[in-house]
Amino acid sequence: MEKISDHMCRYKGYNFAINELLTAEYIDSLQSFEIRDSDTFIVTFPKSGTVWSQQIIISICELAGGLNQYANNFEQMPWLEYREEGLEDYTLRRSPRLFSSHLIPALMPPGLKNKKAKIIYVMRNPKDVVVSFYHFSHILKDLDTPESFDSYLEQFLEGKVIGSSWFDHIRAWHSHKDQYNILFLTYEDMIMDLKGAVTKICKFLGKNLSDAAIEQVVEKSTFKTMKNDSKANYKFIPPEKLSGDFMRKGKIGDWKNTFTVAQSERVDQMLQERLGDMNLKFIWE
Ligand code: A3P
Repeated sequence: MEKISDHMCRYKGYNFAINELLTAEYIDSLQSFEIRDSDTFIVTFPKSGTVWSQQIIISICELAGGLNQYANNFEQMPWLEYREEGLEDYTLRRSPRLFSSHLIPALMPPGLKNKKAKIIYVMRNPKDVVVSFYHFSHILKDLDTPESFDSYLEQFLEGKVIGSSWFDHIRAWHSHKDQYNILFLTYEDMIMDLKGAVTKICKFLGKNLSDAAIEQVVEKSTFKTMKNDSKANYKFIPPEKLSGDFMRKGKIGDWKNTFTVAQSERVDQMLQERLGDMNLKFIWE
């Protein structure tokens, strides 16, 4: 692990948040982490709708039955790469296990490639991601505080943030998609048609919920409901670690309140240069 800033370290070409239990040995051990058929993963680049997706997946699994109870969504669907003191060993968890991750395919347990477990990958407009990350970096103590939006944007575009390069993340997961049992969704899909997204996730997870149950999941997953749901809103993070609202705005296009025209054009150009050959449908365009 190479420390590259006060709160960030680098291992195997990927930037991690510094955390007491994060070691090179632990990340290496994921290469032999045993995947179970019943495991479900939400995988995202940070600030792309991870916590929102957690609430949807957990609500679906709760209504479908058989989910073990945990104090909150973080404990119910913990980050594979970031363990916390007091959380039980992931290998000892009872099935079905739910995990979150910001990792790239190369660092994920290879067992996932047997298409055993299910992965939901959520992508968000990088302009909204960087604005969300910028604000989050001001309130989460474990992140380096940016000097200005302009310098932070440069850092983000160079991949010098936690999660490394947004462009590489998108490319890696999309180009390895045939190896995984994976459902791709976007934050924008979820905003524009939450019920449609919940229905897709339900189908992908093989959970047969009634229309009324799907409506219940939708209701539990709106920004407004989640903001007041103590299991879902991350207010359980103590204020000395998180000094603001995790549930900030929850909108698409908020980048327009921060970006200059030149900054926006720079991201458009990079999208073209770095991902133009991928034929991805960027629905925010
Ligand atoms: P903003 O900062 O733009 O508001 P992540 O969970 O990957 O860190 O992503 C955080 C972003 O998802 C934040 O975006 C947060 O407000 C947004 N979010 C969380 N729950 C949401 C919901 N129910 N509806 C819409 N956006 C949500």
